[in-house]
Amino acid sequence: MVKPSNDRVTVCYLQELKKQKKKISALTAYDYPIARLLDEAGVDIILVGDSLGMVVLGYETTLPVTMEEMIHHTKAVARARKRAMVIGDMPYLSFHLSLRDSIENAARFIKEGGADGVKLEGASPARLKLVEALVEAEIPVMGHVGLTPQSVRKIGGFRVQGKEAEQAEAIFRGALALEKAGAFSVVLESVPAELAAEITSALKIPTIGIGAGPHCDGQILVVNDMLGLTSDYLPRFVKKYADLSGVISAAVQNYIAEVGRGSYPEEAHCYHLKKENAGLARKVRQKVAGKKRRPVS
Ligand code: KIV
Repeated sequence: MVKPSNDRVTVCYLQELKKQKKKISALTAYDYPIARLLDEAGVDIILVGDSLGMVVLGYETTLPVTMEEMIHHTKAVARARKRAMVIGDMPYLSFHLSLRDSIENAARFIKEGGADGVKLEGASPARLKLVEALVEAEIPVMGHVGLTPQSVRKIGGFRVQGKEAEQAEAIFRGALALEKAGAFSVVLESVPAELAAEITSALKIPTIGIGAGPHCDGQILVVNDMLGLTSDYLPRFVKKYADLSGVISAAVQNYIAEVGRGSYPEEAHCYHLKKENAGLARKVRQKVAGKKRRPVS
């Protein structure tokens, strides 16, 4: 049975949604106010993505993002959510270490960050071993295959993956292997819709697509992209649901203009001394700054 919508989203709930062919909604978030809005709107999964590096911290890629940055932002997101599942994205070089160090890093997302699970990119044999070990350590894992941005140096850019047979097979095998290793779901990023559809029907765990067509069990977008907060180039799979850049620019220009002409703040925005204390400010000025200078008109 699918749980009522105000209960916490769990791994079982997501798997039940897949069984019932109900779609899963996921978005990234990096801070308290946006996470609160997403949670209140009813999104199922909030991913604290390492896209943080590119859309919030101004890095060119996700590679410089650190564990400290990820934990800091995961804490803020976890404080805001009531219902959604919060997943922390393991940053580059946080899970390419010894099994022990990688597990410790993943556990920080749960113990310090307040996340419900972690996501990690790739499906190499070492990665699969780590997924098994994390599941053994009671840490739910979301896999990620297709375009894996942490491999941007190897791939040579942010391009669609799996258009040719060899790569498509590797992605398919990777998704199956992640399921076998115990991942509870897998992100398919920038792969042909036809390939994503076949993977989705072959897997028992839910697929979450980003640039992977409509047949995945769920969809995820980077929240800054879909809200129109990203000024750079956007991939074709992004749909802008709002133009918050436009809204923010107009508001700030309006503020600057009003401050400039003195029409902000208005009376409604001011605090005043009580009538019986009307002379207090003048007295304080005289005491502190002396009597000689003329009062401000
Ligand atoms: O970091 C991120 O935002 C992601 C999503 C694009 C899936 O990995």
